Amino acid sequence: MRGPVPPARQAARDSAVDRPPPPGGPVMAVADPLLVAEELEKEYRTGPEVVRVLRGVNLTLRAGEVVALVGASGIGKTTLLYILGALDRPTAGRVRFGGEDLFARSEAGLARFRRQEIGFVFQFYNLLGEMTALENAMLPALLLRKSAREARALAAEALQAVGVGDRLGHRPGELSGGEQQRVAIARALINEPRLILADEPTGNLDPKTSEVIYDLFLRLQAERGIAFLIATHNQELARKADRGYRLVDGHARPFDAQFHNLPDQVK
Ligand SMILES: Nc1ncnc2c1ncn2[C@@H]1O[C@H](COP(=O)(O)OP(=O)(O)O)[C@@H](O)[C@H]1O
Ligand SMILES: [Mg+2]
Repeated sequence: MRGPVPPARQAARDSAVDRPPPPGGPVMAVADPLLVAEELEKEYRTGPEVVRVLRGVNLTLRAGEVVALVGASGIGKTTLLYILGALDRPTAGRVRFGGEDLFARSEAGLARFRRQEIGFVFQFYNLLGEMTALENAMLPALLLRKSAREARALAAEALQAVGVGDRLGHRPGELSGGEQQRVAIARALINEPRLILADEPTGNLDPKTSEVIYDLFLRLQAERGIAFLIATHNQELARKADRGYRLVDGHARPFDAQFHNLPDQVK
């Protein structure tokens, strides 16, 4: 059971329906595409060999919606998320963020995008082992040149919000997998991005913890209107999204909010 639908989720769902947005008003902000991929291509060259991973990916993420990304292992989910997060560049095609051509930005502009406008959550958390939970979560705020005092306050608040407010002084090695992922989520939240890209965020967690982490994403969506694109192998979790895409043969095929056409086999 999905339970009652919070307003932000309902608005995101409404906006996912294929019809022209209403003229003017606050609904426009929800219906506006936040990030659009247009005919994205990515090929890797290793010596003489060329692997065409993405062959014309089109997808749209709107403000405040949770979108699942499913597909077989090795199909290109990480490749796609890295490009959408400007951690890598496409071979061809475009990414529009807020209407702007993302890769037309300077390196400094791309760095700003990564630090400030999106958050990234990885399967293996990517926390710095020598730093405490608080220091890990503070990092993106320090990179935005916030004072240590402000960064510390923001990090403590974010860690509290994701349920590890009592682990500020712990290092990653002293935390469970679920707790480490919560710290990584706090780090992704600290600069208040409108979009979080999550690459198999529960891929290393047991089923119960996976569900708790996924429900945390849904709460952040409902409470803060943050949009999520979540690559996952977990069909149950994919069904909790507003809608999704399945990556197959280098293309992203949409499936709808009711999941009528969710493939039985998402792996
Ligand atoms: N840096 C790279 N150089 C060469 N090939 C790569 C590189 N990164 C990924 N690939 C290849 O691209 C394909 C897609 O990989 P990936 O995006 O990691 O898939 P997924 O995340 O869906 O498992 C795989 O065949 C992988 O071997
Ligand atoms: Mg991957």
